Amino acid sequence: MEAVILLVMMMMMMSLWGPLVVVSGKVEASIKNRLGSGKNMTVHCQSKDDDLGLRTVPYDDAFSWEFGVNAGGTTLFYCVLGWESVGNYQFDAYSFGRDRVRCETRCEWLISVEGIYGLNGETGLLEYFYHWPIQ
Ligand SMILES: *[C@@H]1O[C@H](CO)[C@@H](O)[C@H](O)[C@H]1NC(C)=O
Repeated sequence: MEAVILLVMMMMMMSLWGPLVVVSGKVEASIKNRLGSGKNMTVHCQSKDDDLGLRTVPYDDAFSWEFGVNAGGTTLFYCVLGWESVGNYQFDAYSFGRDRVRCETRCEWLISVEGIYGLNGETGLLEYFYHWPIQ
């Protein structure tokens, strides 16, 4: 009987503490223009609940924002990028399943003429993630 009560108490504590622990984790995401001198890009990022608006980002500047990762593990931000002949290219800037470890506190992206690089916050290495569609 005591064991059952203990178990119930533990479950109650876990349900109280669990979400708090997850929600306290803030992530800073940034998308940096490395397309080359004089080249602008547009970026428009959104989640289910937030629309961060359409921004123009000049060379060497970054668009960044901060968000909390939700307890259900469904946090997803996607962005639509535009520059020169790449009209609209959509990619996931943060997806909990893919990025929970890779981007525990920071999710940095570099936009280059070759494609999109993501910084792996865990290893500190830049990874080539997406190439532009073949024209
Ligand atoms: C880049 O953006 C700035 C400010 O929005 C603008 O003044 C400039 O003409 C743009 N440059 C190009 C090459 O489109």
